[in-house]
Amino acid sequence: MDIKLEQISMRFGKTLVLQNMNLTISSGKLVSFLGPSGCGKSTTLSIIAGINKPTEGNVFFGEDCITEKAPEERGIGMVFQNYALYPHMTVFQNIGFPLKMNKVSKEEAKNRIREIAEIVKVEDFLDRKPKQLSGGQQQRVAIARALVKKPKVLLLDEPLSNLDARLRIEMREEIRRIQKKTEVTTIFVTHDQEEAMSISDSIIVMDEGKIQQYGVPEQIYNHPHNIFTAKFIGNPKINIIEDCEVGAEKLNIGIRPEDIKIDAENPIARGTIEYIERIGREILVKVSCNNNTITFFASKESQLNVNDEVEIGINEKDLHCFEKESGKRIDLKENVLKALINKLKVN
Ligand SMILES: Nc1ncnc2c1ncn2[C@@H]1O[C@H](COP(=O)(O)OP(=O)(O)OP(=O)(O)O)[C@@H](O)[C@H]1O
Ligand SMILES: [Mg+2]
Repeated sequence: MDIKLEQISMRFGKTLVLQNMNLTISSGKLVSFLGPSGCGKSTTLSIIAGINKPTEGNVFFGEDCITEKAPEERGIGMVFQNYALYPHMTVFQNIGFPLKMNKVSKEEAKNRIREIAEIVKVEDFLDRKPKQLSGGQQQRVAIARALVKKPKVLLLDEPLSNLDARLRIEMREEIRRIQKKTEVTTIFVTHDQEEAMSISDSIIVMDEGKIQQYGVPEQIYNHPHNIFTAKFIGNPKINIIEDCEVGAEKLNIGIRPEDIKIDAENPIARGTIEYIERIGREILVKVSCNNNTITFFASKESQLNVNDEVEIGINEKDLHCFEKESGKRIDLKENVLKALINKLKVN
């Protein structure tokens, strides 16, 4: 079932927290809300869940306008950051709790609890209490409890943030697997760009209560529509060279670290190595050029040392140009980009 937000705005007192949000999430997809703390991700989710009513605008599930419906009438399952399992209940009872509330017969509840427990792989722990489970196992139980009523929509608000780094990666793969298997339309809230990139069919990048970009992960990474998205996605961060001029236009130019190479034959800049970090597959290098620090990767074999002078090269197709004032992306023609590179060149 599609989820649609139409002209949604939200005020808390005088503060405008969401501004005119319009979006559609297609049935069966997993879409992430990604953005910094306070940008409005949880507020948007709470409006979809019915916990908050928007100041303006409407929410649709399929063709149905559900803006006035109570959360329990919406057919949603939710998992929050602090997965509050009931500590005195067993895993079986925790998963079955929503069915008990809905007065599903004991026999049917038993079947459904077992079925969903197998999907999320907690079928061996049904008799345990939550405190006898690891964080990842507890999170699986919370997901099972959200799914047991066969919701039309699954809402996950930072469900992995209490887990350690390795378990987070494991669990995000699990969430993806469970979502594919159940085909439930899912919204996944995170401020971790790598998590969003790895798990999502599409990403909605948000900042200051507005959608900055909505697209598939590759598009968001390779074709950021504005400088906010360019800087928010990618680790290490995109390099930004400020105040470049093309005609009368002032631009900020972004270059991803992986698009910069050591190049003594056709260099665009020369600088001094400030910092080197061996990160396994490659070496992360930071070079100081004309008051800019440029970050890029070099191969593990290269013999580089701090204070070495190096020459670096880039390809004009890898420049991301943004208007300085608005931050909006501008796609320049190849010849203009070539001229721009020539201007950037230091001799
Ligand atoms: N009940 C409320 N009353 C007043 N302001 C609120 C309320 N709930 C949220 N806000 C404000 O709305 C803004 C968006 O909050 P929200 O919780 O949606 O952010 P978020 O993107 O989920 O952030 P985080 O990543 O920290 O969870 C914040 O500035 C927050 O202080
Ligand atoms: Mg939040």
